[in-house]
Amino acid sequence: MDTISYKLISTISVCLLIIGLYFRFNRRVHIPLMGTAAFIDLILVVVLETQRSVMNQVVRDELSGSLQMHLPFAITTGIMYVPLIIFGIRLAKGAEQIRVWHRYTGGIFIVVRLGNYITSLML
Ligand code: HEM
Repeated sequence: MDTISYKLISTISVCLLIIGLYFRFNRRVHIPLMGTAAFIDLILVVVLETQRSVMNQVVRDELSGSLQMHLPFAITTGIMYVPLIIFGIRLAKGAEQIRVWHRYTGGIFIVVRLGNYITSLML
């Protein structure tokens, strides 16, 4: 797969996240859209690693300025997915006290995912 395809797939994921955020109070829309975006992002990481060995490149090579900017966003996005989805699932199961945590992690997540997307376009 070429760079354009990766960027196109990432664009689809970001669009799903934005639409899913808009429908955050409609569970039947919010959960499938966010779940699909998370799945696409996960597949993208697996494909980038298997096709391009991105982790090795980061460890081995001298990093360009744009990659140095992209990495913190990429790592934080991956980390933020974990609490965000755990809180989301607990909220879906009725744990209302978790709502505020899901809201805050969602706010942080969308900022870093957009940062990740914008810096990925610069690579
Ligand atoms: C698959 C993962 C996710 C699950 C299972 C999930 C689940 C939920 C549920 C059950 C609600 C409550 C909806 C309602 O009150 O009817 C909710 C709300 C919300 N979700 Fe998610 N969500 C997920 C991913 C995300 C992501 C990725 C974001 C951020 C981009 C996000 C941001 C929000 C926000 C901001 C709210 C509104 C909370 C509030 O202000 O009360 N969610 N989510």
